[in-house]
Amino acid sequence: MKLWEGRFSKPSAKSLEEFNDSLPFDCKLWRADIKGSLAHVKMLGECGVIAKDEAEKITAGLESIYADIDEGKLELCGAEDIHSFVENELVARVGDAGKKLHTARSRNDQVATDFRIYVLDAYENLTRNLKNLVGSLVVMAERGVKYVMPGYTHLRKAQPMCAGHFFNAYSEMFLRDLERAAECAERCAVLPLGSGALAGTSYPIDRQLTARYLGFNSPCENSLDGVSDRDFVAEFLFVCSLIMAHLSRLCEDIILYSTEEFGYFEISDEYSTGSSIMPQKKNPDIPELMRGKTGRVYGHLMAILTCIKAVPLAYNKDLQEDKEGLFDAEKQVNSCLSVMAEMLPNITLKTERMQKAAESEFCCATDVADYLAKRGLPFRDAHATTGKIVRWCIENKRTLQNMKPEDYKKFSPLFDEDICKVVRAKACADARTSFGGAAQSSVKRNIKSIKKRVAKY
Ligand code: ARG
Repeated sequence: MKLWEGRFSKPSAKSLEEFNDSLPFDCKLWRADIKGSLAHVKMLGECGVIAKDEAEKITAGLESIYADIDEGKLELCGAEDIHSFVENELVARVGDAGKKLHTARSRNDQVATDFRIYVLDAYENLTRNLKNLVGSLVVMAERGVKYVMPGYTHLRKAQPMCAGHFFNAYSEMFLRDLERAAECAERCAVLPLGSGALAGTSYPIDRQLTARYLGFNSPCENSLDGVSDRDFVAEFLFVCSLIMAHLSRLCEDIILYSTEEFGYFEISDEYSTGSSIMPQKKNPDIPELMRGKTGRVYGHLMAILTCIKAVPLAYNKDLQEDKEGLFDAEKQVNSCLSVMAEMLPNITLKTERMQKAAESEFCCATDVADYLAKRGLPFRDAHATTGKIVRWCIENKRTLQNMKPEDYKKFSPLFDEDICKVVRAKACADARTSFGGAAQSSVKRNIKSIKKRVAKY
């Protein structure tokens, strides 16, 4: 039965139903829909809009529907959308009392409420998975804390750093995602219910009460905005998109560092794939697939932004398009987060190779310049002198590590014997003790702080 068939003299065309119905996908909102209705009917009873015994009947009916769907006894089909489905089922179960559930409510404020309830749950799942991932990154940071690796800029070796610094950088990104999710969830917890179709209602309802029953922060302040606002969908998709951006960068680094050319990481066999023709291959399909899924999640963000950009106030059917992208993004992001959290601790750090790489290609050159600057040479001049040393090394096939103190002294009288100790990768990394720097001591402090901050969520 259609909720609106009274005005119509002919039944809907089959094609209209196929095109218009949302039950095939909004059935995912069944829990949220029943929760919303339970709060609404409790408030209606409390405010005397419907009789207490009617409210009780409706409540019992809704609870029995919830239990039946939960146990798989009730198939979600045969209605236009989840809201119609639940209401039809309610009337079938409790009779005329059920017809009062929709008092002081419209499907417009109902669907906006249901979807917010759903998204708030989705934030909880994201938060759990993000925390888990940060846990794995901390495991890796602790594993890497004793070792050095090269840090890069422009994908050229730049400066040695404690290997834990690399993993901590990603923890910081995901901590920001956790914070962002929490902030967006606060804005999502503003209740549209009671906005009616668009203009509110003449019944003596108490929207604060409904908000409290549902654990929302407050009712929305403007009914017209309440039924048409889908910012919370765009925000959720933005949160997902940025998580995917961070994951994708991590994937790219993992792929790169596990190549034969870099050889800093080895992904264990359980999380690698092979080739049907090249027997020697061990491929990083997991991070590649994740990097690929990033585009798909960005696409969902772009879709909702485009969908809402020209929708006149208030509700228009365009807004039914808000759901499928979010459902897919949520699914993709959660699976990426959990697979990454699982795969990470199964990466072996090839510490010797990392250490060697951190001492090659003049990774320690900044420290030579700093050495001179600390002995009184203005940094710009120290930079130029070190540049000459590097050029001399290249021309004479030497390295900063196999230069003798005498070789250094030819470039400046400020050099002493101790310069040879300065150009070791571990020494260079561990000298960077500034707050947030790449020294082992700073990285340890960073790990402690990450653990403390992630525990807040
Ligand atoms: N299935 C609709 C949606 O998802 C529910 C709201 C319908 N409201 C309406 N006025 N047709 O947006």
